Amino acid sequence: MPYICGRQVLHDQLLLNPPGPEGSKGRWSQRCDVISLPFFYFYNSTDMKFFIDTGNLAQIREAHDLGILNGVTTNPSLMAKEGIKGEDAVMQHYLAICEVVDGDVSAEVLSTNMDEIIEEGKKLAAIHPNIVVKVPMIKDGVKAMKWFADNGIRTNCTLVFSAGQAILAAKAGASYVSPFIGRIDDSNWDGVQLIEQISHIYTIQGYETEILAASIRSPLHIVKCAEAGADVVTSPLESILGLLKHPLTDIGLAKFLDDAKKMRAELAGVK
Ligand code: E4P
Repeated sequence: MPYICGRQVLHDQLLLNPPGPEGSKGRWSQRCDVISLPFFYFYNSTDMKFFIDTGNLAQIREAHDLGILNGVTTNPSLMAKEGIKGEDAVMQHYLAICEVVDGDVSAEVLSTNMDEIIEEGKKLAAIHPNIVVKVPMIKDGVKAMKWFADNGIRTNCTLVFSAGQAILAAKAGASYVSPFIGRIDDSNWDGVQLIEQISHIYTIQGYETEILAASIRSPLHIVKCAEAGADVVTSPLESILGLLKHPLTDIGLAKFLDDAKKMRAELAGVK
């Protein structure tokens, strides 16, 4: 994943944090394992993770069967869409998801008060070691995320729409920050540009929080988020499968198969 950075930024960062296993630390070391001077191209050594954004077990299994799935995100609307009602049913459903996918599964709290967020988050985190507690970007959410970070519970800060919110999430020790790309685009701003901005800020500030691009609406969003420096992209199954598609692939394959069939027929005719 190439990065082009400002000369001064590169200079400062190299002084502070030279590349290589000995001198690297934090996010910078993840992002900067090859530097080819003088073009200042940075290679990101992390591989952008693919999460599926759904509560639907059949879709989760289908994405998992592709072999490229690294995790799952859910939210109360997605759970409601599956008709999962009541605390026990919700807990069981998260457990069922964790049994399909060996990766992080975001489970969102419904509380908005710090003490209640903490209580709810503790219950969610106890379901399975892969559960990441999803907390909204509100004042009590920030306080709760700090508490979770101090107590070894991983969090995903959700409903993020600005760089300022992303800075707060990182300062609070969130494991993931979820900028909502599609909803930003819907409001006539550029969602992918926000990913770029957060990626730049996190890199120069050395924040460890991973950027989880959410509210993905198309395969192109996934590609653009990869270019912009997202650590994770969470998408509906349709957008993931959309990455497969190209008309020239279909046309090319049809021709290859047709030519092979003719060749086989010719061979059969000769005998
Ligand atoms: C993921 O964590 C978010 O809850 C989700 O991507 C929101 O997507 P939407 O804007 O399509 O509802």
